Amino acid sequence: KIKNLEFVEFIGESELKQRVLTLTEEINRDYAEKSPVFLPVLNGSFMFASDLMKEMKMPCKISFVKVSSYSGTQSTGQLKTLIGLDESLFNQNVLIVEDIVDTGLTLQKIIDELKSLGTKSVEVISLLRKKPAREKGLAVRYIGFDIEDEFVLGYGLDYDGLGRNLKNILKAKR
Ligand code: PRP
Ligand code: MN
Ligand code: MG
Repeated sequence: KIKNLEFVEFIGESELKQRVLTLTEEINRDYAEKSPVFLPVLNGSFMFASDLMKEMKMPCKISFVKVSSYSGTQSTGQLKTLIGLDESLFNQNVLIVEDIVDTGLTLQKIIDELKSLGTKSVEVISLLRKKPAREKGLAVRYIGFDIEDEFVLGYGLDYDGLGRNLKNILKAKR
């Protein structure tokens, strides 16, 4: 129980580990001749990114981005600023790492901004993907689990900043 929400286990630690290992095998195969730059989106993807990178067999780099969202003065929805992108990504094979893609807005913003940097290639890996992103057909090359509209936390994912330290993923009871 965190704050006023009750959670139950959704994806256990061993299932998570197994899936992460399978994904890293794919990446090791696809990038055997390339030296990728992992681009985790803070904060949520820090644990996933770390576990992925530990299994990489090729030389690779890491660089971080963060999307800070703040509400506008009116009910104009959310404005998002991206920080951390720089010219070091020029001519690189970039692998954006997300913990979850939900509406896809965060990812779309990052992909749009990357275009102007002259990257060699851009692919996305996300541990979780929710339905809206699935329906939009956003190009997520590697996906851990496709999930329904659950509120999830753990393994990097938070509820009001809490729960990121968990080794498994929980979902809100309803
Ligand atoms: C979450 C998550 C993704 C994004 C997905 O991050 O980690 O980055 O939202 O949502 P979307 O597809 O609807 O854009 P959040 O902005 O909560 O920040 P955090 O990673 O620091 O928790
Ligand atoms: Mn995030
Ligand atoms: Mg969050």
